[in-house]
Amino acid sequence: MLQEVAGSTMFHPASLDEDLMPSDIFPSVRMRRLRQTPVLRDLVRENSVTMNDLILPIFVEEGIDAPVPIDSMPGVSRIPELNLGKEIKAIAADGVKAVMLFGVSHKKDAIGSDAWKSDGLLARAIKRAKDASPSTLVIADTCFCEYTDHGHCGVLRHGCVDNDATLVNLARQAVNSAQAGADIIAPSAMMDGQVAAIREGLDDAGFVDTPIMAYSSKFASAFYGPFRAAAGCGLTGDRKAYQVDPFNGREALRESIMDEAEGADFLMVKPGLPYLDILSKIRENSLLPLVVYQVSGEYAMIKFASQAGALDEKRVVRETLGAFKRAGADLILTYFARDIARQGF
Ligand code: PBG
Repeated sequence: MLQEVAGSTMFHPASLDEDLMPSDIFPSVRMRRLRQTPVLRDLVRENSVTMNDLILPIFVEEGIDAPVPIDSMPGVSRIPELNLGKEIKAIAADGVKAVMLFGVSHKKDAIGSDAWKSDGLLARAIKRAKDASPSTLVIADTCFCEYTDHGHCGVLRHGCVDNDATLVNLARQAVNSAQAGADIIAPSAMMDGQVAAIREGLDDAGFVDTPIMAYSSKFASAFYGPFRAAAGCGLTGDRKAYQVDPFNGREALRESIMDEAEGADFLMVKPGLPYLDILSKIRENSLLPLVVYQVSGEYAMIKFASQAGALDEKRVVRETLGAFKRAGADLILTYFARDIARQGF
């Protein structure tokens, strides 16, 4: 009944009579009036996406001569460390302004120490990228799963990731990345207190102006499957003891509120499409720039369905990015960023 619709003062003028029937509103109110032409639709479009909003995740591997295609992510390859300069220039020339850098390490150990060495892969890759294209924003994924031999995001004790021991190492890794030239530090380990520990570490080392992009509401998601192959971080077990349960919304909100209180400069929701509700709730509860990560599994679903002829890739990508914007995201991490830069949106 219309009464229920009219009862919602949010969508109706206060003067609307409760006894009005649909026919009293229609045909004077016609929603289709503003959809008649492309120009009109452009004028009333509520959200837009530009290259200023997109960040491309890249995988940089040491000890390889040629790019290694990732089978589970068609179109994505691991970049050989030695090609990174050339590749980052090409990425920048295509129009991508920011990258999230992941190292694919051949020197893994129990604690991931390569990540905080000044001559380790992460530091070398950041430096190489910044030297080749100083204007490209380099964001350093700050975590240990790419650098530990067990694949967990920190130091293990009795088979479990030791939160506080890992904090010390995260701060070291962050300082190392900042020294190598990283523009933004992006902690993704989901340790409690990681933003505060990294902020303190950066400030003590003089990097008071280096922002922290917190992977704040990060879920223990099956959508990371292809990434683990891409980054070469196979894992026995799971990350349920530190990442958020996909069934929990309030808990994810608390994570972001805490990261903001610890000094995060950006908040992030990850994965994207299955968690639009979280994105929109955080948008309502924070004034910080909000980032969403369209993760490897989301990319793979679109790619494989498009390859099978079931979906129109370009239109589906556009729709997903529009949905992120509508839900409240400012920035979007997506493996499609380079395609969009090349082909338009
Ligand atoms: C590292 C990290 C992961 C992703 C980004 N950073 C993997 C994980 O948490 O298991 C996933 C990205 C993707 O799936 O595209 N902690």
